[in-house]
Amino acid sequence: MKVSRRVDALVPSITLEMAARAKALVAAGKDIVSLTLGEPDFDTPAHIRAAACLALERGASRYTPVSGIVELRAAAAADLSKVHGVTIRPEEVMVSTGAKQCLFNALQALIDDGDEVLIPTPTWPSHTELVRLAGGVPILCPSLASMGFQINVEQLRRKITARTRLLLLCSPSNPTGALIDEATANELVKLLRDHPELLVMTDDLYRRLVYAPGRFVSLLALDPSLWGRFVLIDGVSKSFAMTGWRIGFCAAPRPLIAAMDKLQGQVTTNAAAVSQHAALAALTGDQVPTEKMVAEFDVRRSVMHAALSAIPDVHCVEPHGAFYCFPDVSAYLGPKASDDVALSRYLLEEAAVAVVPGTGFYAPGHIRLSYATSVPLIEEGVRRLASGLQSLRASH
Ligand SMILES: Cc1ncc(COP(=O)(O)O)c(C=O)c1O
Repeated sequence: MKVSRRVDALVPSITLEMAARAKALVAAGKDIVSLTLGEPDFDTPAHIRAAACLALERGASRYTPVSGIVELRAAAAADLSKVHGVTIRPEEVMVSTGAKQCLFNALQALIDDGDEVLIPTPTWPSHTELVRLAGGVPILCPSLASMGFQINVEQLRRKITARTRLLLLCSPSNPTGALIDEATANELVKLLRDHPELLVMTDDLYRRLVYAPGRFVSLLALDPSLWGRFVLIDGVSKSFAMTGWRIGFCAAPRPLIAAMDKLQGQVTTNAAAVSQHAALAALTGDQVPTEKMVAEFDVRRSVMHAALSAIPDVHCVEPHGAFYCFPDVSAYLGPKASDDVALSRYLLEEAAVAVVPGTGFYAPGHIRLSYATSVPLIEEGVRRLASGLQSLRASH
């Protein structure tokens, strides 16, 4: 059957492909260490699960308002106001089915055919695909590993044209774990002041997963007068180990929220009622489980980063957020594995370790490894990676 050009043009997810291949090998009895995971390996904290059960007992099994229950919109508005140093009202927040639907809604509501969206790379592939799906043109702006993957603001400036509508930022970054630092944030704010026509979307889904001395810097907090041009994407998936509950938030000026409400009302109506109550408990309840999870990720981050850095000719920028390392493995490319996709397939088949190729994130020559898994598995996975790379080099 012929499918639409719009969907046909979407690039399939390499992350899912690698994860599926790893699963198939495990099902066939192979001992595979998978470092592909894009979600915390922790359970949703008990008090959040309990709040969901209670909500069900009390009848949270019906439609809610399209934009979400008022209590959750108010809790998200209060939380985002604190983080971003501006007053965000509950009616400026919309609840959707994961941060992914927030991105989808906002891009569909903002982008017309041919509108350009500036996206620093490496970036999460859904950012570019959702822009394309909305008819927009992603304009990629590569950041360099040698600069700690900090955004090159001068390059961004040069890429602004009459068609540029939006700048899409993600800090901490999936896949690099880089955080926009204070100096870069100030340069970005200056760029925004110089270009009043430009809107900004910040995907802050990992903002609670940051490791000292890293610090989440809000551009809005640096210049609250920019609220009105900002679209904040946030949610509970990664920070509260709630990926399966599917709750995300978008905060934006009222006209955009109204447009997204109209769109979502035709597509999914509301995010699952019980999940909204769970997310309310996540935002308003005990924050200690998240703090403990962040502390554990920090330990794993150090273990993985040290182990990767000990492999000859592998260069890995130290991540300060999220739960990924993104090393440069280009020194190992050669006739048998001429790019990172072939290299990742080789590592899976020959070294029994699953990683995600950097090409999917617009960063050839790199691979992404997730440390959302136990320390013993991280150590074993990186040991397999090291020995796989050595055998690959020997065979070239
Ligand atoms: C940068 C980034 N934004 C958004 C999402 C989607 O989040 P959610 O599961 O809440 O839809 C992901 C998930 O991997 C992500 O990495």
